[in-house]
Amino acid sequence: MDKKSKWGFSTKSIHVGNEADEALGSVSPPIHLSSTFKQDGVGNNRGHDYSRVSNPTRDRLEENLAVLDGAKYAICYSTGMAATTALFQLFDAGDHIIISRNTYGGTYRMAMNVLKRQGIEFDWIDTRDPENIKKYLKPNTKLVHVETPTNPLLELCDLEKTSKICKKAGVFLSVDNSFMSPYGQRPIEFGVDIVMQSSTKSLSGHSDVLGGVLTTNNEDLAERLRFLLKATGGVPSAFDNWILLRSTKTLALRYQKSSDNATELANWLNEQKNIDRVIYPGLSSHPQHEIAVKQQRTPEDKIIFGNMISIDLGSVESRDTFLKSIEVFTLAESLGGVESLVCVPYNMTHAAVPEKTKLEMGITETLVRLAVGIEDLTDLKADLIRGLGK
Ligand SMILES: Cc1ncc(COP(=O)(O)O)c(C=O)c1O
Repeated sequence: MDKKSKWGFSTKSIHVGNEADEALGSVSPPIHLSSTFKQDGVGNNRGHDYSRVSNPTRDRLEENLAVLDGAKYAICYSTGMAATTALFQLFDAGDHIIISRNTYGGTYRMAMNVLKRQGIEFDWIDTRDPENIKKYLKPNTKLVHVETPTNPLLELCDLEKTSKICKKAGVFLSVDNSFMSPYGQRPIEFGVDIVMQSSTKSLSGHSDVLGGVLTTNNEDLAERLRFLLKATGGVPSAFDNWILLRSTKTLALRYQKSSDNATELANWLNEQKNIDRVIYPGLSSHPQHEIAVKQQRTPEDKIIFGNMISIDLGSVESRDTFLKSIEVFTLAESLGGVESLVCVPYNMTHAAVPEKTKLEMGITETLVRLAVGIEDLTDLKADLIRGLGK
């Protein structure tokens, strides 16, 4: 067995793909910005010919991200949406894909306005009960794509049960793991075929990179994805790959701290009188708390509830007062950064989802999503106290 496979998560995140370079021994790996590579003769290159096809910095990052997910293969993209699009492009006109309702709004926009037009069929369903999936399976169903926790309602999907149902039905199962990151949840351990992540979020963690990644143990899927990437060209820049490779070194520290902050804040918010709903998988009042306990685990097998909280402030006035009063949380899209952000999914991340659908699911204008960062807990709490007018 390769000695690296025995290393702990942080050791892997710091060392795999980050080996000192052969030529000069630089401890921080070099960045290869070159778009093309000198060939020693026709058909005789030194491992790379053109950076859309492969690039040494991207190779390092893919090695690093694969190992963190416990996967054999990782394929990197320019954004999370490019990764999800590539995942769905594995399938053809006439194929059917089942997706968790209230996934990230951009997934809905891409599926319904781009790939549906090109003949792929989609059903958006409640995957909180995996048995529900059976009702929507059709002879042309090829993929079930779930998000857990979902964005922004933090609904959970039991990965082990869902994976068994998909295997029995002969369909692939993919998971958008952007909210948990491999530090908090490793779907491949539950039999999931493909893991998708927006590396713009916790993997990069500093709100300065756009990226996406798909990981898998299935060689055939990996080859088809590599071909699609080469053919369609949605590759990340070498600079973004390098920054991301540096960022995953601190993923464990950042994710643990932000999740600890979120757990403390969610418990406190849950005791406040002027909030209609506090949604957080770590609260025993969360209807699927036990699923979080089962599958949201650190690499050392400690329960972890994640850095996302949603709260319903009940009225647009309270929401606006909250947003005007906060000073540490920043009103902005995105999540998973060291800095705490706040957003109104109804108008922001889920703008593309039809109003009726949003309201049916509970994504109201007064639902506020908190993406908790790694600032001092006392400052975050003081900020929420200010926002809630206490
Ligand atoms: C859960 C989730 N999946 C996918 C995406 C898309 O990622 P990107 O913005 O990197 O394209 C996002 C972006 O917010 C997201 O929150």
